[in-house]
Amino acid sequence: MLLDNKVAIVTGGATLFGRSVVSALVGEGARVMVADIDNAGGAEAVAGHEALATFRQVDITDDAQIADIVTATTSAFGGVDILVNLACSYADDGADSTRDQWLSTLNINLVSMALLGKVVRPVMRTRGGGAIVNLSSISSKVAQTGRWTYPVSKAAIVQLTRSMAMDYAEDGIRVNSVSPGWTWSAIMDSLTSGDRVKTDRVAAPFHLTKRVGDPAEVARVIAFLASDQASVVTGADWAADGGYSAMGPEQAAAAIPLLTE
Ligand SMILES: NC(=O)c1ccc[n+]([C@@H]2O[C@H](COP(=O)([O-])OP(=O)(O)OC[C@H]3O[C@@H](n4cnc5c(N)ncnc54)[C@H](O)[C@@H]3O)[C@@H](O)[C@H]2O)c1
Repeated sequence: MLLDNKVAIVTGGATLFGRSVVSALVGEGARVMVADIDNAGGAEAVAGHEALATFRQVDITDDAQIADIVTATTSAFGGVDILVNLACSYADDGADSTRDQWLSTLNINLVSMALLGKVVRPVMRTRGGGAIVNLSSISSKVAQTGRWTYPVSKAAIVQLTRSMAMDYAEDGIRVNSVSPGWTWSAIMDSLTSGDRVKTDRVAAPFHLTKRVGDPAEVARVIAFLASDQASVVTGADWAADGGYSAMGPEQAAAAIPLLTE
């Protein structure tokens, strides 16, 4: 298995998406600490994996709690080899966002990633290295109406990933980001009242795969990047977006023939 004898921390592991990541890592042999502010969701995330996954309620914007989760993981499983920074906030008032909203989004989505990396780094160093996977997004590279704070945070994560990869390399720690496209997740479930067919129909024109991604598909990319199979990959942003970022404004339609009509 890809992650035999590895220990992982997954922030945001309580959500629909995060649970797929927890399942994928456990399925590849890792032991996983799920770190999330959502108590009920966290308990569900580890249900069925009790021998290999543990949940701890953590607010990743609190430095003391960040330190505690790394210590607790080391006590429970003997160390930390993998950190998946998945927790996020979608709160975003676009052009009307207040200073508090800006700071809150950047705090949850960006700053907490950097500070978790800082705490986990010496623990990984004692194991001879490790792998960090930061969740970015297609939103890091394009403008989307009414969204400012979230896409800015996701763009900054791509750069943070390069900076982390640069300075952590001397400790044998690889750092990469993953940028999913639209992925079946709690927000899509709630916006469509669970209508995945409708979600796929809406997503079809801007994904080459003509559907939303499944969280399990993105989780497999994360598991790969976290594994020694990706030993040559660091400082990179991996698209897991069904071709969203390969498509231009012409979408998947023949535009040039329109000139001759
Ligand atoms: N859903 C998509 O289509 C999509 C697309 C691209 C990228 N992503 C990225 O994938 C990741 C997961 O997205 P999602 O849609 O599942 O998000 P989500 O909102 O469903 O889940 C986020 C999780 O983070 C947790 N969280 C929030 N604040 C926290 C805090 N202060 N401390 C600890 N935990 C906290 C929440 O409780 C929740 O479990 C995010 O990083 C997101 O940016 C998602």
